[in-house]
Amino acid sequence: MNINGKHYRTIWVDPGNEKVIRIIDQRHLPHHFVLEDLRSLSDAITAIKDMHVRGAGLIGATAGYGMYLAALEAPSGDEFDNYLRDAGSSLKAARPTAVNCSWAVDLQLQAMKKGSATHEKISIAKSTADEIADMDAEYCRRIGEHGVKLIEEISRKKADKTVNILTHCNAGWLAFVDHGSATAPIYAAMDKGIKVHVWVDETRPRNQGAALTAWELGQHGVPHTIITDNAGGHLMQKGLVDLVLVGSDRTTHTGDVANKIGTYLKALAAKDNGIPFYVALPSSTIDWEIEDGIKNIPIEERGGEEVKYIEGLCEGFIKKVLLAPDNSPAANYAFDVTPSRLVSGLITERGICRPDKKSILGLFPEKKRRDG
Ligand code: MRU
Repeated sequence: MNINGKHYRTIWVDPGNEKVIRIIDQRHLPHHFVLEDLRSLSDAITAIKDMHVRGAGLIGATAGYGMYLAALEAPSGDEFDNYLRDAGSSLKAARPTAVNCSWAVDLQLQAMKKGSATHEKISIAKSTADEIADMDAEYCRRIGEHGVKLIEEISRKKADKTVNILTHCNAGWLAFVDHGSATAPIYAAMDKGIKVHVWVDETRPRNQGAALTAWELGQHGVPHTIITDNAGGHLMQKGLVDLVLVGSDRTTHTGDVANKIGTYLKALAAKDNGIPFYVALPSSTIDWEIEDGIKNIPIEERGGEEVKYIEGLCEGFIKKVLLAPDNSPAANYAFDVTPSRLVSGLITERGICRPDKKSILGLFPEKKRRDG
């Protein structure tokens, strides 16, 4: 992704010091572009927990590098493996809904078993973290290649008139290492000269849509309009939405989709209006264990102050203001689960499939269990 013409990923190893991991601190966007150095496991945990980095894929990539930083600081000898196991548990607990975090930690623990001396394990942790980041970027690029076909088809049916896409939260380049999941087909459509316009849900309480999706679409020159979270149903009734395209933080292998709070309401409105509702996700976001997403996906609850306060630019300074009575309590559920029956299809790096076990396993046959 280009920022002011320069290509960036959202996370990378400092070319001058390979013990330092660099990230874009997303808390300052869209007003300031700030880079941060991660030098320890604790820096990586804070970056995930306090959302300097966020989004399923990027949380996974940061967890991958977090394990590498943990390997660098771990005591050598017998205690090394215990230290890394504990590091993995702390990273997994930092944001519980996005399954990419556990996926990356488990890949690291598995990979490091191949080394025996401490220096070998550190070198494996570094190359595994790089692989996780590269894989994330490549999978998102492929999601773009597959997903663009849906946009092309709608554009053809509309005789090349603008395709209006509604998205929720930020499942863009900033939520991954590069390209994004829900945005990858949109960028691919732009690159093919297809006319697109994106309705960007602001996404209260943290406003990832208004702050991040709008910013990255703007950087890529994609026409877009920010709307309040409650406007989507109205736009659908008026025929102003051709496609809903969202990301996912965890999708069960049965097709239930956990995504940013409010996604379920968009899926209901899309169903009522006969509008296709697609979810774009790399396979690292698939939970191969859980069958029933509504019952079993852990839903992160964050502090009520994110609901009661809002932050923005005021006369050149970032300010936080109170919206509600100071003594009113607030609840902050960060995600909801859209049941598979409301999902038209899943766009993965291997292609598009229906949101059910058979179709998902059709794309990922290696995940079939011997016990059926
Ligand atoms: O809380 P966040 O910002 O980490 O939430 C992640 C999201 O932006 C969305 O839920 C997104 O659609 C899926 S992450 C690719």
